[in-house]
Order: sequence, then C-alpha cells, then structure tokens
Amino acid sequence: MLATTQQTVGIVIAVLLSVGWVVYLIANYRRARPEVGSEIELAPNRKPYLDDEELEGRKLEQAQLLGLVSLAVIAIALPLYWLAEPGRQASAERGFEERAINEGARLFATTEAGGFDCAGCHGGMAATGGVAPYVLTDPDGSLRQVDWAAPRLDTTLLIFSEDEVRDILVYGRPFSPMPAWGLEGGGPMNEQMIDNLIAYMASITISPEEYIAENEERYGTDGAELFDAFCARCHTTGWSYGEPDEPGSGGFGPRLLGGRIEQQFVDEEDMVDFLTEGTEFGQQYGRFGMGSGRMPGFGQVLSEAQIEAIVDYVRGL
Ligand code: HEC
Ligand code: HEC
Repeated sequence: MLATTQQTVGIVIAVLLSVGWVVYLIANYRRARPEVGSEIELAPNRKPYLDDEELEGRKLEQAQLLGLVSLAVIAIALPLYWLAEPGRQASAERGFEERAINEGARLFATTEAGGFDCAGCHGGMAATGGVAPYVLTDPDGSLRQVDWAAPRLDTTLLIFSEDEVRDILVYGRPFSPMPAWGLEGGGPMNEQMIDNLIAYMASITISPEEYIAENEERYGTDGAELFDAFCARCHTTGWSYGEPDEPGSGGFGPRLLGGRIEQQFVDEEDMVDFLTEGTEFGQQYGRFGMGSGRMPGFGQVLSEAQIEAIVDYVRGL
C-alpha cells in the first residue's frame, strides 16, 4: 500500500517536472526569437545589473531565506528518514525471506504441480512422511520393487544443521530412493534453488517443544520403541522397506551390535551427549569415531529420559 502511494507521488512529480521542462523550453525558445540586432540591448553582458542597494538588501535576504528553508527541510526530513529506516530494512528482509520460501515451495511441489516432487515422496507439502518406490538389487543380482519409507521433513532441521541438510540435498542418500539434487551431485539444482528449498523446509518445521511433548506422550521411555521410531531407518538393515533385520544390524549408519558400542562409548554419559548432539563433519567422537555430519542429534526431538532409555536399549543389543 505504502509503495503504491509512493509510486503515485513519484509519478505526479515526474509529470510536473516534464511539463515544467516543456514550458521552460517553449518560453526560452520564444524569448530567443527577437530579430537580428536586438542583442545590443538583450546580450547579458550589456544589461545593467542590480545596484549595491538591491544586491545587499532584498537579494541577499532572499538567498538567506532559501538557505534557512533548505536547512529546515534537511533537519526535519533526515531524522524522519532515519526513523523509518529500521522498519524499511526489516520489511525488506522479510520480503526476501518470503520470496525464498515461495520459490522453495514451488520446487518442493509434486511433478503434477510443476515441482521436483519432494512432496510426492515425502508426504505432501507439509512433508509428514511418505513412501517412495525403489528397485532393490538382491545379493544374487536379481531386481525387485519395494516401497521405501521417506522420512518426514518438517523436523529435519531439528536433527540436522542447515549445512548438513544442504549436503543431503546436493548429494542425495546413496543406496536409497533419495536422489542427488545439486549440480555437484549430478542433479539439476543450483545453489540458490537448494537454499530456497531449505528456506521452505525451515518454514514448515514444527516447534521443538511441541515435538518433544508429542514424542513423550507417544513413546514414553520405551527404548525399543524409540529405537524403532528414530534410529532403525538408518541402523537396521531392511527397516525402510518393511523387511527389518535384527535391530542395530546396520544400514546407512554403522552396525551397533557385537560390543562395539561399549568400546566406542566407555562412559554412558558420553553416549547420551553423542545422541543429543549428533555428529559434525570431521569431528571425533567416542574413542575411535570420526563424524561425517550424517548422524543426527536428538536434543530437539526427545527428552533426556528418552535418550537415556535409548542408550540403555542400544547397549543391551
Ligand atoms: C523418489 C522419492 C524422493 C524424492 C523425489 C525426494 N526424496 Fe528426499 N528422501 C527420499 C527417501 C526414501 C529418503 C530416505 C532415505 C533413507 O532411508 O535414508 C529421503 C531423504 C531425504 C532427506 C533426509 C531426511 C532425514 O531425516 O534423513 C531430506 C532432507 C530429503 N529427502 C529432502 C528432499 C527434498 C527437499 C526433495 C525435493 C527436492 C526430495 N527429498 C525428493 C525420497 C525422495
Ligand atoms: C539419518 C540416519 C541416522 C539416524 C536416523 C540415526 N543415525 Fe546413528 N549414525 C548414523 C551415521 C551415518 C553414523 C556414523 C557417524 C557419522 O557418519 O557421523 C551414526 C553413528 C551412530 C553411533 C556410533 C556408532 C559407532 O560405532 O561409531 C551410534 C551409537 C548411533 N549412531 C546411534 C543412533 C541412535 C541411538 C539413533 C536414534 C536415536 C540414531 N543413531 C539415529 C546415521 C543415523
């Protein structure tokens, strides 16, 4: 609304200026018409100029008055401008953010809606989780079609940092239906598109407090159930396509069986911290672990008691 008022004012000023110029040019042209010889009286250097009386009187006062008026305008207009500036900047930023989210939503939409079908696999625009068809190669080389669970994305930014999500989007998840989207990963999207997708994901992300409360209500401190809901998709072979092997048998994430975890985390508290924070790329963890940023942190998803319950469960596997 403000912009349109400003535009109107701008247009009026522009019209006034243009008309003024045309009038000035016409007047000037007509004044320049007088016939040959008249320059004897009209040439500027031959015109008698104002006398001292006038120059130091009215003329000077006019100039001073003009200066005073300009000063007043600056003194009033500049502070007004400064007052409005923070608001203008904030709304410009908000506008920028909104455009990124809208653009991200366009990319996120299903193929039918002209997008790249994130919504198609991940459970609609709210991305509450869905399934993706996938062709699996069995050890004997035969192929078969399975339905692969696609995780919800309205909590992804609670378990991964923005940079980690960027990595997933650019390179995809190997050996899963999640394709690489970034140019570096061989996909179709440039950096700006990936950023817009992340802005969209941030805009649909639910509040961590609500999510923790919801998970407490739903799972309590049942370690086995919690592991199945939050860990198995990466740490149990076949879980994502409905053929789960032994819990902790390994998949995208390492195998957690065979006493390995007790060696990695001698102290239970260290393991609680590890599950709370997740890993960062190049960060060491436990006794001999090297993080890749692909192990999520659950501090904004589960309560401390729930994380402790999972630790007990995993150490008992
Ligand atoms: C063909 C189906 C399919 C499409 C299309 C697809 N994904 Fe995925 N995506 C998956 C599956 C399946 C997984 C889980 C892979 C696994 O089990 O590790 C996944 C994983 C992810 C993850 C990791 C989440 C986590 O918590 O581990 C993110 C983020 C993601 N997808 C975002 C997107 C975005 C954004 C798009 C659109 C540009 C998209 N996906 C398009 C199937 C798909
Ligand atoms: C999105 C996939 C994913 C999910 C979900 C996930 N992890 Fe992991 N996890 C990994 C990856 C990948 C690693 C290897 C470390 C790395 O690459 O940063 C890992 C490492 C670990 C390790 C250390 C293993 C070792 O031997 O060094 C433990 C323990 C672990 N995860 C437990 C869990 C538990 C418990 C949960 C559920 C609360 C969970 N993970 C959820 C992917 C995942």
